[in-house]
Amino acid sequence: MTENLIIFNARVVTPIGFSARCGKEMGELCIIDNATIEVTDGIISYVGPSRGESRDGYYQRYWHYNARGKCLLPGFVDSHTHFVFGGERAEEFSWRLKGESYMSIMERGGGIVSTVKATRECNFIQLRSKAESFLKQMSAMGVTTVEGKSGYGLDKDTELLQLKVMRSLNNDEHKRVDIVSTFLGAHAVPEEYRGRTDEYIDFIIRDVLPCVAKGELAEFCDVFCEQGVFSVEQSRRLLQAAKEYGLGLKLHADEIVPLGGAELAAELSAVSADHLLHASDEGIRAMRDAGTVATLLPLTAFALKENYARGREMIDAGCAVALATDLNPGSCFSGSIPLTFALACIYMQLTIEEAITALTLNGAAALNRADSIGSIEVGKKGDFVVLNTDNYHFLPYYVGMNCVNTTIKEGVIYPV
Ligand code: NIG
Ligand code: FE
Repeated sequence: MTENLIIFNARVVTPIGFSARCGKEMGELCIIDNATIEVTDGIISYVGPSRGESRDGYYQRYWHYNARGKCLLPGFVDSHTHFVFGGERAEEFSWRLKGESYMSIMERGGGIVSTVKATRECNFIQLRSKAESFLKQMSAMGVTTVEGKSGYGLDKDTELLQLKVMRSLNNDEHKRVDIVSTFLGAHAVPEEYRGRTDEYIDFIIRDVLPCVAKGELAEFCDVFCEQGVFSVEQSRRLLQAAKEYGLGLKLHADEIVPLGGAELAAELSAVSADHLLHASDEGIRAMRDAGTVATLLPLTAFALKENYARGREMIDAGCAVALATDLNPGSCFSGSIPLTFALACIYMQLTIEEAITALTLNGAAALNRADSIGSIEVGKKGDFVVLNTDNYHFLPYYVGMNCVNTTIKEGVIYPV
């Protein structure tokens, strides 16, 4: 659904540009006070000083929204989540609190594979309604575009089912959040392939990838490139095949140990490399040179009690950094945008302005969409977040608390 909307008296706060911002540019926001924004058929058609409220009756065809005293930002882009799954893993969380590690739980048959079991037991409607409830919460925190991954099926039918759930949610006329789908068939090795990882990769390439591509069920292909999961060589083989099918590339890279995932992402011109807690200096430079977006997920580091990725150093090295939540039932059962802001600023030393760019324009770039979303500019979608305050510093300062007043999706107003 799209609408015609005019917003008056807004304090606009936005990055500017149609591609990712890197290094110093990430901290440069454009601020316009008392701005008027026109959205026509869901697309921004004017941003600037007031043009006189009546405009010869022109605005009669528009909904009106008075944003006096409030900040208006581009809708947030959460460019890394796993929001379609069955079951939950609260037990595992309690084991981790007692000292067990994420990888040791995975090695003894828990972790991702236990969500695979629960997901395989769900039908389309069950998966869809659970996923839809996450979308409502995201919208209330200002998210207007989210990326979602498969990866809890690990067989052909269930992988395709997860992707079909996302397509169905994205085709909903009343959706509040756009969904970008990623095929993550190589998220873990399923029980039936235990000890036969190469054969599992062969199966994905031969039997599943062609169906994903043929059905246009995903825009990206991702892989959990990690010691004990998929090696650099196995990841390269899968991603090269995905590239031949025209999919964009993403990697879960250097999350638990430094394996060279950042370097592989750069070598393959991946759109993004994500996590990067242990990315090497060389990997960071390679990503910068390749234009690969470094997507950082501070909620996951927080929930796993790991050290945070080197966000400050990556920006200073000239990388384009995005922030995302990584919402999933295991390593990070949270899609909290407010907490993501706070952790990024407090523990990764991003400035507030950099964090805003990371969750808007650079998130859009991590989804190949910097030309259509992620900033408030003519020609882009009319997707906005309206804060309860005119001070955008509240985003990290009001720690873990939601200061979103209203989310606007393609000109349609959704009060929180
Ligand atoms: O991004 N690391 C791999 N994948 C997810 C976790 C998925 C899960 O534990 O269910 C992540 O952290
Ligand atoms: Fe993830």
